[in-house]
Amino acid sequence: MRTGRNSHRMALFFKNYLEENNLAEPEILDLAAYNFPLFEERLRYLASPPAGATEFAGKIKSAQGIIMVVPEYNGGYPASLKNAIDLLIDEWRHKPVALVAVSDGPFGGTQVITQLQFVLWKLGAYVIPSRFQVANVTANFDDKGIPADRQSVDKRASSFIAELLDCIAVNIAKHS
Ligand SMILES: Cc1cc2nc3c(=O)[nH]c(=O)nc-3n(C[C@H](O)[C@H](O)[C@H](O)COP(=O)(O)O)c2cc1C
Repeated sequence: MRTGRNSHRMALFFKNYLEENNLAEPEILDLAAYNFPLFEERLRYLASPPAGATEFAGKIKSAQGIIMVVPEYNGGYPASLKNAIDLLIDEWRHKPVALVAVSDGPFGGTQVITQLQFVLWKLGAYVIPSRFQVANVTANFDDKGIPADRQSVDKRASSFIAELLDCIAVNIAKHS
């Protein structure tokens, strides 16, 4: 949600990648657009949910899989993401999730990955083992999500997305 954010570039990259390769019908759920107030209680217990929360819950529930793009802030995830995660419970359970960690430094968000894996594991999500780490995001992606080195980025994205699609296929077969 940060003013001048750069990690949104990765949401745009994956939306483009999935559409251009006919792999999925992606939709970006932008926390800056939802702009949820600070957490007071889980959605199911709220008499007057914040605007957009019911819609957000429905979109998470109906998604076959989720690519979660997260910047690393002081070694962890932004409060805005935890704020949104905690609103929901059942919607995360058995949900295939792939993590994309973004930093504008050289380490590509290694620490935020381990933190978020743990949170999502607690909620019963199926977080795939592969993760997509992006270092030096402003040098490597433009503001429309176009990579500077398309060939190598597409190669990495291909195996990452293949693993998420496998997880989704197994999940659908098991629960249908
Ligand atoms: C409050 C704050 C803390 C940050 N902490 C880290 C960090 O721990 N490690 C890191 O690699 N980058 C850190 N960054 C830089 C972000 O990686 C950088 O802003 C990047 O572009 C992704 O976040 P953005 O979507 O807010 O732009 C931090 C940025 C902010 C605003």
